[in-house]
Formats: sequence, C-alpha cells, structure tokens
Amino acid sequence: MGNVGRPLSFGFPLPRDEVENLEPYRAPLEGRRNLLRLDFNENTLGPSPRVLDALRKISANEIAIYPEYDGLRELVIENLFSCGLQTSLLPEQVGLFNGVDAAIHSIFHSYGDRGDQLLTTIPTFGYYTPCAQMQGMEIVAIPYQEKDFCFPLKQIRDALMKKPRLLFICNPNNPTGTRLPPEEIIELASSFSETLFVVDELYEAFTGDSVLPLVDFNTTPNLLALRSLSKTAGLAGLRIGFAVGAAEVVDRVSRVTGPYDVNGFAVAAACAALLDQPYTDAYVAEVLKAKEWIKAELAANGIRYHMDGGNYFLLWPDRNATEIESLLRAKGILVRDMSHKPLIEGAIRVSIGTTMQMKEFWKIFLDLS
Ligand SMILES: Cc1ncc(COP(=O)(O)O)c(C=O)c1O
Repeated sequence: MGNVGRPLSFGFPLPRDEVENLEPYRAPLEGRRNLLRLDFNENTLGPSPRVLDALRKISANEIAIYPEYDGLRELVIENLFSCGLQTSLLPEQVGLFNGVDAAIHSIFHSYGDRGDQLLTTIPTFGYYTPCAQMQGMEIVAIPYQEKDFCFPLKQIRDALMKKPRLLFICNPNNPTGTRLPPEEIIELASSFSETLFVVDELYEAFTGDSVLPLVDFNTTPNLLALRSLSKTAGLAGLRIGFAVGAAEVVDRVSRVTGPYDVNGFAVAAACAALLDQPYTDAYVAEVLKAKEWIKAELAANGIRYHMDGGNYFLLWPDRNATEIESLLRAKGILVRDMSHKPLIEGAIRVSIGTTMQMKEFWKIFLDLS
C-alpha cells in the first residue's frame, strides 16, 4: 500500500506491469472492535449460537488435518431450496470460496485476459476494479442514472454489443441499493451469450432479488450468481462464499484457487449457519424493521438520503462527510465515508443493524449535525 507509481527500492525481480500499476482495494479495517459497526454492512449481532457451538466442538484432530468439503455443497443447495429455489441444482454447480471476494478474484483470474473488457456500473463494489486491473483488462463503467440512481439498462445493453468478456452487476448494488429485476438480468444474459454475467447477490436476502429461483443454467450457462454468509449469517470473519452456475463455469473458476483455500473453521460454521436459516431470517426481519424506523426518521428530518435494496443507505450530512465520519467514530459509531466515490460525493454510507442500534446512531448523528 502507498507505493503505487513509485519505483521499487530494489532492482529485481519486478512484478507484472499490471501489479505495479495497480490501485489496491483499500478499506479501513483496523480498530473496529467494541464500536457500533455500521460501516461494512456486516451482521451487527453475530452468528447463530449453533455456529458458535459447532466451532467450540472442533477437535485438535480436525485442526491438524486439511479441511474436508463433502456435504457442504449439498447443504447450500438444500438451503437455497428452503429460500425459494425451485429447479434442481447439482453439487458441481456450487463453487466454494474463501469469501465472495475470493470468488470475484478467481472469476477475473480464469476469464479476464489482457485487453478484454469488464463491463460494470459506477459507483459499485470497489473490489471489481483492482481485480480487472491485475488482469490488464479494460474497464467500462456505466454510471447509475439520475438522482435515484436508476440502473442504466439501455447503456448496458448498448455496451454489451461490443461483447465484453465479463459483466459484473451488483444486485442490489452496494452502495446505491439499486435493484434490477432478476428477469431482466436473465433476459440480457440469454441475449448476450458471449459475455459471462456475474451477479453479485450479497444483499439479495433483504429484498429477494435473486436470479436463482428463475434461471435455468442449461439454457443460460453464461450466468453466475455469488452468495456469501458474511453479511446476513454473520460469518464475515471466517470467510466463506459461493458461486452458483453451470457446472463447467464453476469448474473453470474453481481451477484457479488453491486446493484448501476454504478452511475447516469456515466449513464447520457454514454448515451450522445453513442449517439454522430461521436465525438468519429473524436477523433479516429485524434489519427490515429497523430500516423502516430509520427511513421514517430521515423523511421527517428533511435530510437528503437514498435508501433502496440492501442493509444500508446513503446519507448527505450538512457537514463534510469525512469530518462526520471521524466525529461519529469518536463517539463509538463507525460509518463509511463515500466522498471519494463518483455520483455520491459528500455522502456517508450507513449500515442498518437493529432498531436499537439505529436509534443510537440517529441520536448521536443529530447531536453532531
Ligand atoms: C457487493 C459485495 N460483494 C462482495 C463482498 C465481499 O463479500 P465476502 O465477505 O463474502 O468476501 C462485499 C463485502 O462488502 C460486497 O459488499
């Protein structure tokens, strides 16, 4: 970090040009313990007690051996069925990754060649850009539209005519919450079969926008959906995510990972979390309740905000966003300064936790405004 554009202090060996010129993904990750964390859209209560139980039961023997993955893909499929999936999926259609970040990295590694195009939107999740850059790809990022950040469907359709290798759609989008109906995504993917459509569904649980109940991967093999247990199930610290799609695509994306990239703790926790969907559902319901509460407060206050899908919203404070972020931190509340992101300059992104947590945030925010 901090060395971009500066020559290395030693001569050889040099990394690839793409790596040397890369602007790495940056996020303020340190010193977050014991604060009210409304900055990374994480689960603010932690995982199901069954997850903690499963972790406590891990024996020394299990730690000493490499992890085993048998049964986890099947559990993901069963869990998807319990959440509305109708068509059958085979275990080979589920890829296991060290968080969705690792799945994203692997997709670029397996599909993104030097000079190929990545088509995406802006502003969106920040990790797509460095992944495309490290492959030497050209990035075409289409802005969200108008003051409500509508999805730029026509522009994306036009840009697809140029046959980009990859299209990344974050749905709902982080940080604008913009939602594109899954039917539209599937229709687009069927019409532009030379592009791999990656739908990052990290926040779909809050509005049910998934392509999975609708897509047939036999007829639309160029579509891949990404799911994670980080945000809703509360496993962000353990790192586990899934890519669901046609078996051949999942196979190619999985080829570029190490054989044991997903660790045994993550496997045990994921199995327990997938078997306790009611816990996750209850957390999602609590967040949705809190979302309504804070939305009513924001509307009554007359402050500019933007709230759509996901467990977060954008807020334009009267004061400078960077300043309000540090003032809130000093009061024990973390939010994310979005000043540097195009189209949403001056905004902070606030994750939604429980109603009690939102009340705590709102009281302090008003005191500082
Ligand atoms: C849209 C989006 N995709 C992917 C990720 C990374 O997820 P994971 O924790 O599974 O790596 C995040 C995390 O903030 C995200 O917001």
